[in-house]
Amino acid sequence: MRYRAGVSESLTHAPANRLPPRLEPDPLEAEFARAQTMAKLFGEEHELRVAGYPLLRKIGSGAASIVFESRAPRQRRVALKISRHRARPSTRTRMQREARACARLQHPNIVELLDANEHQGRMVMVMELADQNLRHWSATKPPISARAAMLRQALEGLAAAHTAGYVHRDFKPDNVLIFGETRAAVADFGLALDLHQTLRESGRLTNPGDVLGTADYMAPEQRRGLRIDARADLWAWAAVAWETLMDQRLDPDLRALPTPDELQSALESRLVAETSLAAWPAAIVGALALRAELRPTDAGELLATLAPA
Ligand SMILES: Nc1ncnc2c1ncn2[C@@H]1O[C@H](COP(=O)(O)OP(=O)(O)O)[C@@H](O)[C@H]1O
Ligand SMILES: [Mg+2]
Repeated sequence: MRYRAGVSESLTHAPANRLPPRLEPDPLEAEFARAQTMAKLFGEEHELRVAGYPLLRKIGSGAASIVFESRAPRQRRVALKISRHRARPSTRTRMQREARACARLQHPNIVELLDANEHQGRMVMVMELADQNLRHWSATKPPISARAAMLRQALEGLAAAHTAGYVHRDFKPDNVLIFGETRAAVADFGLALDLHQTLRESGRLTNPGDVLGTADYMAPEQRRGLRIDARADLWAWAAVAWETLMDQRLDPDLRALPTPDELQSALESRLVAETSLAAWPAAIVGALALRAELRPTDAGELLATLAPA
């Protein structure tokens, strides 16, 4: 099976048979390196600017974009997500879709869009700046209660998206941003599906064979290119919750998946000391039901089954 999008540079633990595609170097990166040297020697006015924003540091990159730290008026630190050079039209559409979704979804657990621009044929999104993503943060082994609090917030973000009629479709640790030690926000709505719009335009939810997103966190029905809805995001959230709480990735091969009982008892032993998380193992296992009809209907309903974290 081939996946069309969502493979990111940070997917370092991908099995050897599914290595991310080699990314073509983007001229912006070389230009940025040169400008940085100049700025160091001769001052700020030599910083490379994109859509008026100076590029200060490269933060991350994915198949479709490069993300930099930048500075907005009044010294506010922001993130600049810039579409790659010679991006295919689909990449531009993807970022336009993402900017529109972010602009509509104003919620503390969804990354805030501050500005959107075009610069020399590239799309530029200006966003609030996070400290890191959930993958990097979890690697520092924070306390279990803090991990649960971040997962809960990410689920709140998904709930806001679902209420507004969006399915994220690419929920994974790299796409959850962490601010300090207390706030998480869902990012990367590039693959988000606007259910209302899709239904209006085509009367159906996906194109046949439309497989998008990252296989490792993808619901079974999504991998098969079937019609999906908010319940696909619940599978992804539960796979991310498993990984974050257990410090181990859920086997992407569904045939190798432990039984629901095995999953539940592993989670129970892990969370045994956390009395406020008593409902979590069953909730996570319920969201990992192979058949979507057996999962809660959306993130709001799943949230209701978790006691306050
Ligand atoms: N607003 C932000 N603040 C800080 N880091 C960010 C921000 N947005 C993205 N990043 C970093 O850049 C990486 C890629 O961004 P993402 O939006 O997921 O792009 P892509 O669509 O290319 O996957 C993220 O995993 C994250 O580490
Ligand atoms: Mg991403």
